[in-house]
Amino acid sequence: MLSFCVCSENPADNPWAGLRVLSTILGRSVSSVFPFGVATMSQPFNSDTPNIDAPAIDPLTTDPVPKPFEIKFASRVDRLPPYMFGRINNSLYQKRRAGDDVIDLGMGNPSDPPDPSVIQKLADAAADPSNHGYSKSNGISNLRREVASKYYRQYGVRLDPELEVMACLGSKEGFSHMCLALMGPGDTAIIPAPYFPVHMYGVILASGNVVALDVADSERFLQNVAYTCEHMAPTPKVLIVNYPHNPSSAVVEPDFFVEVVRLAKKYGFMVIHDFAYADVAFDGYHPPSFLAAPGAKDVGVEFTTMSKGYNMAGWRVGFCAGNSEMIRALGTVKGYYDYGMFQAIQIASIVALRDTEASVARQSRIYQSRRDVLVTSLKRLGWKVTPPKAGMFVWAEIPEPWKSSMGTMDFALKLLEEGNVAVSPGSGFGQAGEGFLRMSLVENEQRLRQAVRQIGKCLSPTTAPTSA
Ligand SMILES: Cc1ncc(COP(=O)(O)O)c(C=O)c1O
Repeated sequence: MLSFCVCSENPADNPWAGLRVLSTILGRSVSSVFPFGVATMSQPFNSDTPNIDAPAIDPLTTDPVPKPFEIKFASRVDRLPPYMFGRINNSLYQKRRAGDDVIDLGMGNPSDPPDPSVIQKLADAAADPSNHGYSKSNGISNLRREVASKYYRQYGVRLDPELEVMACLGSKEGFSHMCLALMGPGDTAIIPAPYFPVHMYGVILASGNVVALDVADSERFLQNVAYTCEHMAPTPKVLIVNYPHNPSSAVVEPDFFVEVVRLAKKYGFMVIHDFAYADVAFDGYHPPSFLAAPGAKDVGVEFTTMSKGYNMAGWRVGFCAGNSEMIRALGTVKGYYDYGMFQAIQIASIVALRDTEASVARQSRIYQSRRDVLVTSLKRLGWKVTPPKAGMFVWAEIPEPWKSSMGTMDFALKLLEEGNVAVSPGSGFGQAGEGFLRMSLVENEQRLRQAVRQIGKCLSPTTAPTSA
């Protein structure tokens, strides 16, 4: 770092003195340091003067050997921990490159295609020259109207498509920018623990603070929200909830959100509900919408997505619906950052929302059958697993003696390296996930059976740790 503060003469008395000191430190003339306008102040480096701070001289050019240029990140980036799934992803990549057939139960990345009518509509819309310009940042009005229709059809919620619905480039983009719109230094958000990473780091990137509360028991979660609000000053500004929950698959009934609205009004916090798994549910369970709770629109918004139920994860289509002021703030931030979604995608999304309910229901049945296969197979191995009622994951406790003798990350790496099965270690979702694995339902039934067989082999009793 170069600075005038090393000056031995007072620069206020002699403004050039500092430059002389600087030139000595650099070991070259001031003119080469400040090429614009100080050439007359040139003071060549005196090689007789010992200067232990001077950088080494390249004998061919007499220029100092340059130090590597220092890239300094913003402190918000320094607050981010190393990516927790990096080791798993890296090992998975290496194995696949080496030709190993790894069964990937890691990410919740749908492997089935969208309904054919949606793909056809995308192709038709892409062929129309009028769809290739910038689109509206908040989404074309017919798409927002379609979202409002779905809310009314499915949850009895009335939304004004102009003011209470916004399209996002996937719900994760909308969520992160909503954090930026609402949070700043000194603000706190309550989030579920374990947490989907963006619920934590969307707030951190917005310079806010986080209190993570155990999500396993919804009644206790609400008690803890109230307790936190009673004992924290200033009180939390935002409550982030996510049901069906990723990674734990916890679900709630409509009454839960009635209580959330009551607490929000009592303590003055805003609510963001991440409803990513709205369309993936089993055994007749219907995930409730936060917006269906009376007064919900006064206090919060809900994010939905086409990524999961509609198999359109790569398309990047999500929505924010609810409180018009919060949506206006999100629109302000987005207005500076993006120009909206490719219009052909928006047009095809209208078809998906309007015409493909049967395909979405069929996809849920596919996940339900996979869930049954995975849960039954794991139970046969002696694992304790609760069948999820919704979402795309099984949240499984690591069995003893492994649970108490090795960390969750090491256990996941063992399954990958010895069993060729990739899973997400629960610790990737924060400390509350330690001792658990998240297994996604994106592989077919036969591959899921095979995965559990391979897990069983690499956990045979002969290789079990003896310490526990
Ligand atoms: C809880 C949750 N929210 C949001 C997302 C991201 O959804 P999108 O693809 O709409 O950005 C995911 C994806 O895995 C998720 O699990």
